[in-house]
Amino acid sequence: MSIAILTNHKESSTWKNALQAKLPDTKINIFNESKDAENADFLVCWKPEKDQLNAFPNLKVIQSLGAGVDHIFDTNKIGKGVKVVRIIDERLTVDMWEYTLAATLNHMKDFAKYNRQESYQYWRQHTYKIIPETTVSIMGLGQIGGYVAKQFAKLGFKTQGWSNSPKKIRKVKSFVGEKQLPKFLKNTDVLINILPLTAATTGILNQQLLSQLPKGAYLISVGRGGHLVEGDLIPLIDSDHLAGATLDVFHTEPLPHKHPFWRHSKVQVTPHVASLTNVESAVNQVVENYQRMKRGEKLLNEVSSEKGY
Ligand code: GLV
Repeated sequence: MSIAILTNHKESSTWKNALQAKLPDTKINIFNESKDAENADFLVCWKPEKDQLNAFPNLKVIQSLGAGVDHIFDTNKIGKGVKVVRIIDERLTVDMWEYTLAATLNHMKDFAKYNRQESYQYWRQHTYKIIPETTVSIMGLGQIGGYVAKQFAKLGFKTQGWSNSPKKIRKVKSFVGEKQLPKFLKNTDVLINILPLTAATTGILNQQLLSQLPKGAYLISVGRGGHLVEGDLIPLIDSDHLAGATLDVFHTEPLPHKHPFWRHSKVQVTPHVASLTNVESAVNQVVENYQRMKRGEKLLNEVSSEKGY
């Protein structure tokens, strides 16, 4: 029995140290630095390469190091009986709320426009909407989306959410399924995408959907790059149908230098930072899941391999 860490990025040793401090008697190896993959039954994992999990024939649990698990299902076939769990962490959830609020207010108060005006000392005032007049529409009302919706509603935004099943959140209007999508989009000022990436949601933010938003609506996408048909967005902004977008996730990350999003004045690009897993605050649930696995107990935050979230 041992834990393997496969993150393909620099935080491997931070995770190893944090886990080892809590599990001093457990063998913990960073994959690639050790040849011990065969003994690993618990894998701490972020963005494995294609078929890379084949190196671990004895896994019982794959622990994603983020809220998303698409990076696992997209690239690897998961063996029958292997459980996949994700991080649900208050810190991640609150970070997402802060980011989406900042992007919303930034848009409402026209800061990007004033930045452009400032660059050529141009004095011009723009009208603006206030919070109670602004409808924020959130796609995805899971753990994170549900919290974000609740907070927007608490601040006095007109808030609505769209999900697969009806959700009861105070002062949040719930819309369900494809049939109610046009109604959900119709009165939107700010559309926030927090959906999980699955076969059903890939490419959902496309010309057909975005053109159902009213003129002047704004897009904030913090789900996954695969949700947006990137080529559909700029024509909708350039024709003034959409006011602009804040995008934190992209098809290819890092976003390639030549990508038009970098240079578009109405597209705010951030480098996948809306919410970052914090080792200190997430380590306990990884340890807890390892211990639960050893005791044969129900794991925390298990996802459905069928649904992919
Ligand atoms: C970040 O993208 C996450 O899935 O937590």
